[in-house]
Amino acid sequence: MSSIRVLSVASELYPIVKTGGLADVVGALPIALKAQEIETRTLIPGYPAVTSALETAEEVLDLSNFHGGPARVLSGSCAGIELFVLDAAHLFARPGNPYSSPDGADWPDNAIRFAALGRIAADIGQGSIPAFAPDIVHAHDWQAGLTHAYLHYSDRPRPGTVMTVHNLAYQGQFPRELLNEIGLPPDSFTVDGVEYYGSIGFLKAGLRFADRITTVSPTYALEIQRPQHGMGLDGLLRGRADILSGILNGIDTSVWNPATDPHIASSFDADRLENRAINKVALQERLGLRADPEAFLLGVISRMSWQKGLDLLLESLPAVLSEHIQIAVLGSGDPELQNRYRAAAEADPAQIGVWIGYDESLAHLIQAGADALVVPSRFEPCGLTQLCALRYGAVPIVSRVGGLADTVVDADEPNIFGNTATGIEFEPVTTQTLTDALRRAHALFRNRAVWHQIQQNGMAVDVSWHHRASQYASLYRQLAKARQAV
Ligand code: ADP
Ligand code: GLC
Repeated sequence: MSSIRVLSVASELYPIVKTGGLADVVGALPIALKAQEIETRTLIPGYPAVTSALETAEEVLDLSNFHGGPARVLSGSCAGIELFVLDAAHLFARPGNPYSSPDGADWPDNAIRFAALGRIAADIGQGSIPAFAPDIVHAHDWQAGLTHAYLHYSDRPRPGTVMTVHNLAYQGQFPRELLNEIGLPPDSFTVDGVEYYGSIGFLKAGLRFADRITTVSPTYALEIQRPQHGMGLDGLLRGRADILSGILNGIDTSVWNPATDPHIASSFDADRLENRAINKVALQERLGLRADPEAFLLGVISRMSWQKGLDLLLESLPAVLSEHIQIAVLGSGDPELQNRYRAAAEADPAQIGVWIGYDESLAHLIQAGADALVVPSRFEPCGLTQLCALRYGAVPIVSRVGGLADTVVDADEPNIFGNTATGIEFEPVTTQTLTDALRRAHALFRNRAVWHQIQQNGMAVDVSWHHRASQYASLYRQLAKARQAV
């Protein structure tokens, strides 16, 4: 097996900079791919957190005047991941998250910032760093989408290109007046180019020009070809169905391992599930819930956005909380939802515990101490928290959409008797069906033998990257071979 070189391009990477699951995937996949003889380098912007995390750094490209300031590409590594960092202080040395200032407003020059990322990715793809000339350039989400447009409009030889959609809801649309400034030719502004509903579409460009498109679950790969979940791009995606596939995400099973997890009160595994009780007590204490070993304790770990359906969960709570149920919520995002959750907790602190913010350690404790994890998403490309929940014996209660449908087996009667059930699914996504699912889960929880079996089944599922990474490896190999033939 010959080795393949892949340049992965993204705006986030765990453990350095993360706003969601994209970072987890971009951080974990290269490590899993090493075992498949895929050599990955990841290009990310030089945010302050990135430049300070670099363990080693060597300048490999000098760009004296790049979009109004000096820039360079550094080669280095961090936490076992080989990186190229686009060090351009005037674009990336800013506080806040990768996309917005600390007060939450998107940076006004995001088009330029992420066009710059795509421009450099394309250059590296075409050999500007001779020590690493990739066979494949793999772009993740809209922030990296323009890479494939730059490669397309260049007349030099190019590598194979892959575009992965982690979330079609974020598309990166910017005014057409920027076309010249971001270095795209005037004739690229057509429906067959980067034009998208009168704007420049970064994700659209990536999808239009990639040799292969992937998304993060087989069901989402189908859903995005239909108007309901296609977010305006379903027509394009249907037209490219022959190169579109879904590959499920995995999780880093060394970070998410209940037997060794430093964040939890008591370690456990499938043979020592009784230790979860200690984590339940710790979680109740941490969020000020009533100490109650018999309560059915639900957990939520989520961005608070329309996608995640947490408004539906709020509406379900009055109906189910009278039934000896508690809930522990960790999340941040939409200010209105945050306030509504805070108010619910203030009104009923014994049963509703809410922590607004981002807290890695509490996320682990919720997985270890909650009896079930609720993920009522309206759409979910893959979802990672239900995978962690399976591994931690927190039974996932999920809507039957996207990757949730692909990773959870509903505890209906045949699956319970066949010992294949791993969670509870509901559809369509409404307050009523969610309420019914919570009640059904509660009834199952009260049947200790059945619940225990569902936990065991979940914990036996392989949620690691191992065989999922091998699907990316075959895709790269097939594409590299096809490109050689060009
Ligand atoms: P998405 O990327 O759509 O937000 P995923 O389920 O794919 O959803 O990934 C979310 C990731 O972010 C998971 O690793 C989850 O544990 C983590 N996460 C989400 N919200 C929080 C939070 N408030 N605190 C800590 N971790 C969080
Ligand atoms: C996105 C999706 C989520 C997916 C993650 C990583 O943020 O919302 O479903 O798990 O990307 O692919």
